[in-house]
Amino acid sequence: MCGGCVNVAVNRNGRDGTQKWNRIQLLNLILFFNTLDTNAHRRPANLLPNQPTANLRMSHTRIALIGAGAIGRTHIDRITRSTNLVLAAIADPTEAGQALAASLNVPWFASHVDMLDAVKPQGAVVATPNATHIPMALDCLARGVAALVEKPVADTVAEAQVLVDAQARSGVPVLVGHHRRYNPINRRARDIVQAGQLGQLVSANVMAQFLKPDAYFDAAWRREKGGGPILINLIHEIDMLRFLCGEITSVQALASNAVRGFNVEDTAAAVLRFANGALGTVVLSDTATAPWCWDFCAGEQDQYPRQAVQSHFIAGTHGSLSLPDLALWGYRGERSWHAELTREQTTVHKADPYTAQLQHFAAVIDGREAPLCSALDGLRTLQATLAVSEAAASGATVSCTL
Ligand SMILES: NC(=O)c1ccc[n+]([C@@H]2O[C@H](COP(=O)([O-])OP(=O)(O)OC[C@H]3O[C@@H](n4cnc5c(N)ncnc54)[C@H](O)[C@@H]3O)[C@@H](O)[C@H]2O)c1
Repeated sequence: MCGGCVNVAVNRNGRDGTQKWNRIQLLNLILFFNTLDTNAHRRPANLLPNQPTANLRMSHTRIALIGAGAIGRTHIDRITRSTNLVLAAIADPTEAGQALAASLNVPWFASHVDMLDAVKPQGAVVATPNATHIPMALDCLARGVAALVEKPVADTVAEAQVLVDAQARSGVPVLVGHHRRYNPINRRARDIVQAGQLGQLVSANVMAQFLKPDAYFDAAWRREKGGGPILINLIHEIDMLRFLCGEITSVQALASNAVRGFNVEDTAAAVLRFANGALGTVVLSDTATAPWCWDFCAGEQDQYPRQAVQSHFIAGTHGSLSLPDLALWGYRGERSWHAELTREQTTVHKADPYTAQLQHFAAVIDGREAPLCSALDGLRTLQATLAVSEAAASGATVSCTL
């Protein structure tokens, strides 16, 4: 139904019918103007000037942003482009954060607590430095505000557990921002794996190799323990593997700083054991001149020139899948290395995973969908990522079971 139109059967013949038609036309007219009034009242006070005003009859979800840095601005961009989300406020103590809020004509707060209490958003995106994620998320839950917490959910598994427990106690939704889960390529890949099209999973191979420019390391923390590609970048691969292949139960790893010589790895290789018996490898380097990395070939982010290569390879007893091209390999007849392999291609609609993640957040807030990446998912992904770091340091096999 649109714009106050009423879909009724009308008898246009005869005096009674004509009178009825006129009454209905009048009713339609009244409804039409009522709709205009209703829309005017429904227009959220802080709907941004650049936000589309179509679909004003849809309910809007008011989302606040805590931490307007690099990824925070990506979220802001996606919120302000949407037709059903409203940027309720920005909390960021910096002048840049304040200036951004002013430019967008939204309320600004130096303190996220003041913001939560004053604005009472339905949801908040926590896009601040890692160490602040848990206290800020707890502040949200205490006020009944759903939280979309950027990855990694926390610095330690113990802190992440505090959030898992608080979420269970409060019942207030938490999402962790592992955005690759929202890429249609990964959704399709997961469907293929879960439908058994690959048979029993055997292996997963991931390449995550790229070159960070020298200026990236001007920030001292990036040259120290914890600032390297295991904790910054590998966590995306671990979450994607968990999403596609299931739980990781143990990890072995090696790390090297042979190129840059910093007090942190520039290259690492990890071997993973999955609960279903499959094994995985990840080769990771931020000092390699190479195209094989999800961020280059999946086209999620314009900041990285696109490369026509594959980065993820999943094999099972009856088929294998490469990503992001979603090529499915298998045998039609005899299953033997002497037989011809067939290659089928699935093409999915491209969609921006950050937009899809925010739409899912709104659906979770409304109770229409269950979190695709829960606080517990964030914890388990963090645990397996930290296990790679620990295994590389100790040389031991590190268990990831809770
Ligand atoms: N999912 C992704 O693709 C992705 C990409 C980049 C970063 N991240 C994650 O997002 C988080 C932020 O990373 P970033 O690169 O945007 O960092 P950043 O340094 O660019 O931004 C952090 C922002 O938080 C603000 N901030 C700091 N303390 C605050 C406080 N107490 N209250 C409110 N704001 C505060 C800072 O002023 C800054 O604007 C990190 O956890 C990072 O791992 C995720």
